[in-house]
Parts: sequence; structure tokens; C-alpha cells
Amino acid sequence: MSETTPLVLTGRGLDKRYGHVLAMDGADFELAAGEILAVVGDNGAGKSTLIKSLTGAVVPDAGTIVLDGEEVRFRSPLDARRAGIETVYQELAVAPALDVTQNLYLGREHRMPGVMGTVLRRLDKKRMRQEAADHMADLGIRIQSVRQAVENLSGGQRQAVAVARAAAWGRRVVVMDEPTAALGVRETNQVLDLIQRVRDQGLPVVLISHNIPNVFQVADRIHIHRLGRRAALVRPGTTSMSEVVAVMTGATEASELESAVTDPVLTAAAATAPDAPPTWKDRSA
Ligand SMILES: Nc1ncnc2c1ncn2[C@@H]1O[C@H](COP(=O)(O)OP(=O)(O)O)[C@@H](O)[C@H]1O
Ligand SMILES: [Mg+2]
Repeated sequence: MSETTPLVLTGRGLDKRYGHVLAMDGADFELAAGEILAVVGDNGAGKSTLIKSLTGAVVPDAGTIVLDGEEVRFRSPLDARRAGIETVYQELAVAPALDVTQNLYLGREHRMPGVMGTVLRRLDKKRMRQEAADHMADLGIRIQSVRQAVENLSGGQRQAVAVARAAAWGRRVVVMDEPTAALGVRETNQVLDLIQRVRDQGLPVVLISHNIPNVFQVADRIHIHRLGRRAALVRPGTTSMSEVVAVMTGATEASELESAVTDPVLTAAAATAPDAPPTWKDRSA
């Protein structure tokens, strides 16, 4: 591993005001290459506002966002998608009546540059089905057929399709807002396994979650959000669940946490990033 793991997505000093409410108050954020970064915090802490700022759904009043070394100013979610940031929302983000293949390709027919876009323009259904099946198999998602309507799948399988779709199109970052909130224990574990496979294939993942045990199961680092800003950045290996909850609720100041990552940019190297720079698999072959 090199001295410093590259940072893929950072936010510095982000502000967002809604009337009298400061939804973001100097919020910092950083996502390193090859990691699953969990974002946790109480209701109203400002997680969604932060995440929406990073994915183009909210335009911050102040602050900077840098993606792969370049400052970006997203005006819409489409801007962020074009820049390679895909988001999976809490509500199952699939079209139930369409089949798995159609869901994976939904809305991308003439949008993306590059190989996938070229393939799509030809609307070669057989090839799309084959690629969809290969992609699902690569991610270890077991479904009988990519021609199955998504409405006939279980909740976990449906969410797996949504994650697979984001992984297929996200070139730089996948963001998941409470992806397991609607799922049972077994299905949750399947989706958590899937998130780890996405990370292992080279796409860093931002995982917003209320479920602290789940976060400890998969996260490489944990961003704790409180009162509109990042209160602490910690690692599950050196910080306990109760410490995370204490910072979340304000019972403990982050400065009292010995295990906090005090200089996030410089210590990102310790994140469990792969040795090689991540490259998302080229499925065009
Ligand atoms: N569109 C909005 N209009 C007014 N207030 C908002 C809006 N979005 C969020 N807020 C307020 O900003 C604060 C942070 O909200 P949010 O980012 O949704 O937090 P979280 O996702 O952590 O629950 C809350 O007080 C919330 O009521
Ligand atoms: Mg929220």
C-alpha cells in the first residue's frame, strides 16, 4: 500500500441553510479509494443534506466538493451521475413491472458516453441480457433469470438489482442511503455482502445507515455526523459501538475519543484500500 490512499470524493466547509435551520454547518467529508465509508448520525443531524450535496440533489450555500482531484459543482443529480456518482435510495429504486435487464439499463439508452452507451444505442437485447446476467453473476447475485419481472423478486433481490445497477454505472462512487432499511435480517446480510463485493471490485461506497452493528460489519471507516457537521471519523477496529453512539448523541465529545482519526487526509492511508489503484472492471469484452 502506498503512503497515502487517494481521496476520491471530499467536501470541505459545506454549509446549507433552510430558513433558520442550518442543515449543514461547515461539514467536512472524505471518501478514500477502495473503502466502504459509513455515515451515521441521529435523525436531523444533516446526513441526508450532506449526501444530497455530494450527489447533486442539494446545492450547498458554501464550501467545496472535489471529485478525483477536481472541484465540482453539481447542479442536479444528473450532473453527479454524469461525473460517475451513482446513488441507491432507501425507497426501492426499481421499476417493478420491468425485468431485471430492463432495470439495469433503465434510462441509460442514449446518455452514457463510452462502451456501455455504444452497446445500448444498438439496443441489442440479447447482448444486454447476457451482460446483465454476467454482471449479476460477477456480484454473486443469484436470480433465476434476468428476464424475471422485478416485482416477482424478494425485497432483498430487488434491492440487489438496485445496487447492481448503481455498480454497473457508477464509475467513481456508489452512494447508498439506508439500503437495508426495508429488509429482514437474512436479506440485509445478503445486501451487505453485495456492498462488500462492489467495494472489492474497486468502487468506493458511501453507506448511510442507522444500524450500528451493520456498519461495524462492513465499514472501513465511520463518519459520525452531528449538528450539521462531521463530529468524528473513526475506524471500527479501534472504536467501539458504544463510543460511536456516544459521539452521535453528544454524550461524548469527539475530542475525548482517543481513537478518532484526527487528521483525516493524512491518515487515509490506513484505510483498507487494495494495493493496486482500483479499476472498475471493463465488461465490454
Ligand atoms: N428541504 C428542507 N427544508 C427545510 N428544512 C430542511 C430541509 N431538508 C432538511 N431540513 C432540516 O435540516 C436538518 C437536517 O436534516 P437532514 O439532512 O434530513 O438530516 P438527517 O438525514 O440526518 O436526518 C433538519 O433539521 C431538517 O429538518
Ligand atoms: Mg436522512
